[in-house]
Amino acid sequence: MTQSTQNEIQWWQSGVVYQIYPRSFKDTTGNGIGDLEGIIARLDYLNDGKADRKAEGPPSSLGVEALWLSPFFPSPGADFGYDVSNYVDVDSIFGDLATFDRLVSEAHKRGIKIIIDYVPNHSSDQHPWFQESRLNKHNAKRNWYIWHDPKPDGSPPNKWGSVFGGPAWTLDEETRQYYLHQFLKEQPEFNWREAEVKKALFDVLRFWMDRGVDGFRMDVIGMLLKDPELRDNPHNPSADPGLPDFNAYERVIHQYNEDLDEVHQILRDFRALTDQYPDRCLIGEVWYELPRWIMYYGKNGDELHLPFNFRLMDLPWDARAFRKSVDELDAAVPDFGWPNYVLGNHDRRRLASRIGLAQARVAAMLLLTLRGTPTLYYGDELGMNNGEITLENMQDPQGFRLGLDRSRDTGRTPMQWNSGTYAGFSAVEPWLPVPQDFQERNVELQDADPSSMLNLYRQLLRYRRMTPALNQGSYRSIDVDREGCYVYVREHAQGARLLALNFVDEPRNISIPAMDRGRVILSTHMDRVGSVLLSDLDLRPNEGVIIEVNV
Ligand code: GLC
Repeated sequence: MTQSTQNEIQWWQSGVVYQIYPRSFKDTTGNGIGDLEGIIARLDYLNDGKADRKAEGPPSSLGVEALWLSPFFPSPGADFGYDVSNYVDVDSIFGDLATFDRLVSEAHKRGIKIIIDYVPNHSSDQHPWFQESRLNKHNAKRNWYIWHDPKPDGSPPNKWGSVFGGPAWTLDEETRQYYLHQFLKEQPEFNWREAEVKKALFDVLRFWMDRGVDGFRMDVIGMLLKDPELRDNPHNPSADPGLPDFNAYERVIHQYNEDLDEVHQILRDFRALTDQYPDRCLIGEVWYELPRWIMYYGKNGDELHLPFNFRLMDLPWDARAFRKSVDELDAAVPDFGWPNYVLGNHDRRRLASRIGLAQARVAAMLLLTLRGTPTLYYGDELGMNNGEITLENMQDPQGFRLGLDRSRDTGRTPMQWNSGTYAGFSAVEPWLPVPQDFQERNVELQDADPSSMLNLYRQLLRYRRMTPALNQGSYRSIDVDREGCYVYVREHAQGARLLALNFVDEPRNISIPAMDRGRVILSTHMDRVGSVLLSDLDLRPNEGVIIEVNV
């Protein structure tokens, strides 16, 4: 529970990260797919750089401090950009390098940092490196990927399965060896034990940092190294016994294909490289159990700045479960580390669809007031719902392989800008359908409604930014003995704030006798401020409040 001082705090600690899925943000070219020019056009929506100048009334802009862009690199699109065929360029669908440079400079003008995706575990099978590697067994790039002879009976080298179902190995008919791919067969995995691979992929980081990129979100970073002996993984006793044979991946404990101890040396080297540039930030996609997850901060803070914390996304919407998860995480993060929280991303169902619109407002307050960096997913600030995905309009390869109910398209539908055709996203039919409720739920409507979800997010972001207790203070949860309520205090030398969140659709009365009176600053209902008695605090159904308190 460290309490950093103002001058130590970094942008990636006090700031809020907003994830953009570029295909779905704003189309300016009329092909039904979002592009970089579209992001530039909407920067003022994200942060016009003026949010702090006006302390009264609804802020004019969301006010996020950083954008994370999912991949926009040249790609055949088998996994929608997570299959990169050139790491140092922009796919022509999205624009070009000059547009990217303009995006960086326009963002920086507004005080927005740019974080980009980095996909170092695998490339596209169309990447020239893999094309060369697969030519024959003796070429200079053969060892850049993981090739192995078949077993004597011709079967794959081991039983590893792909995350998307099926075996993790595909036989190359020409050279009679298998290559490893723990996602699609179009995503062959690099051999990170090969020094030239490391050099080539480190050069990629330099390339983007030299162009002004402020940070990287590192895709499946714990998977970079595999057991040199390629041993089979042990069976997972808690795996769903009903899983089809096809789903070999989910039936095992990933002892030999992920989270190897040795991976931390590569992480340290990544960090040493990015530390050569000022103020860069490394975020990593790691989903392991707490004791292993925590190691990704490094022994002394010499690895990731922020290993993504997805725990809250996997929990039922339950106050007690949330408190337990946050308490454990906050206590576990070492003094040199900094927590972070994620409630939605491009791999999950929409937050509002998971917990309902009323509670999505409570979730917004939670996410923006916990101790740690929040990552917002585009559209969640409107309460966007899951898209209606059918077999006819499905695009996601995971859905094709694991079934419609596993399609990630539901959370990747076009941003809802207005009530016009295709929600103002595009002039033509978009690559995924716009959810049917866009005429009731879009930026234009919510901008005009002072108590909309969008304006709640804007207020929360502004208040978080101007309140040291919220953007850097310590965290302590409080026992209130009321089912459905989660209460915590954020403390800082410049003042403390109490958060009282009602996770249920019923009124609750809570009592905190140790505190006397407080002043409500903001309710998720956006209709009350002023003095309250903390020994007798009424929360309405689905209400969260921020209260200024003396502790
Ligand atoms: C990560 C990405 C996901 C992608 C996978 C393979 O989990 O978030 O979208 O499919 O990596 O790159």
